[in-house]
Amino acid sequence: MKKFPTPSINQAASILHKGGLVALPTETVYGLGADARNPKSVAQIFTAKGRPKNHPLIVHIADAGQLAKWAQNIPKAAWQLAEAFWPGPLTLVLPRLDDVPDEVTGGLDTVALRVPNHPVALALLNAFGGGIAAPSANRYGRVSPTSAEDVHEELGDKVDMVLDGGRCSIGIESTIIDLSTSQARILRPGKITEQAIIDVLTSSVIGTSNIPISCPGSKPSHYAPQALVILASREDAVQQVKEWHERGQRVGLLSSHRLTGLPKNVTWLSFSRSVEEQAYELYQRLRQADHLNLQVLVAVMPEAIGVGHALCDRLQRAAGRGNEKTKTYAQF
Ligand code: TXA
Ligand code: MG
Repeated sequence: MKKFPTPSINQAASILHKGGLVALPTETVYGLGADARNPKSVAQIFTAKGRPKNHPLIVHIADAGQLAKWAQNIPKAAWQLAEAFWPGPLTLVLPRLDDVPDEVTGGLDTVALRVPNHPVALALLNAFGGGIAAPSANRYGRVSPTSAEDVHEELGDKVDMVLDGGRCSIGIESTIIDLSTSQARILRPGKITEQAIIDVLTSSVIGTSNIPISCPGSKPSHYAPQALVILASREDAVQQVKEWHERGQRVGLLSSHRLTGLPKNVTWLSFSRSVEEQAYELYQRLRQADHLNLQVLVAVMPEAIGVGHALCDRLQRAAGRGNEKTKTYAQF
């Protein structure tokens, strides 16, 4: 972790007060932040990302004590989860207070809130003194950034300042849980698993496999590199690679094992063995696929244990966009 000079934090807070955009590190991914109380600043986020305006944003706050400034009818479950996991990679969706700008909530009657676990983000939140609305700091639909360099690559000069807090330690976005109705529902899987949540609440939770995706922005065109992503098992990965290679495509393989029988010129993007390390590496590897100008990336699906559920979810969404491209390829 880089040591952070206070003047940069104060400068960033001042940019936010003046209505500008600051990219900030969190433990999950980098966020593109604006003053959540300033509708004009929030509107700039959508312009910079090219994101549809009805997609709601997460409001980042310094501590659980600020929940009541944004949400109402806060259930006991929210306090229990905040106590257990904040600061950390869990976002709570709660009934909003009337004065939360529609630009932040996309016009919904709920608001998403999270206390990030990163010293730079927390220092900025404390210096700024209010809530920071921040989606991931990537262009709409693309791979989330996990370093300051990635943010520059994604948004260039569309952001007034990028705070460099080093590589994000978790590497994929927070778990989102909707507590706005009587039955808690996970809207997006992440590092905090369904089981970890059940252990705290000691009650049932509707997991992502049981519900249609109802979280705007969770469409299958997310987290996607330029390459067509093909999901494979360890057994059929080499066959998939061969088929795409024979069709004249520049192919890469994302897998934790060096598989034998790969054609020459196929790039192996190595993945660690543990799902935690794979989460840390996933977006770096997808970005690497772009830098290598790969046309097809065959990805061996991670084990669906712990954060592996979230990894499978992100890879499936990356491949969802790829499916559109399959049609295009099929025409040629
Ligand atoms: O880890 C993270 O959550 C990162 C860091 C920067 O905090 N942020 C992030 O933001 O991933 P974003 O905008 O890329 O994803 C936020 C997701 C979107 O899919 C959005 O639809 C959902 O949160 N969301 C926000 N407010 C919501 C609400 N009121 N109800 C349902 N979903 C909501
Ligand atoms: Mg995002």
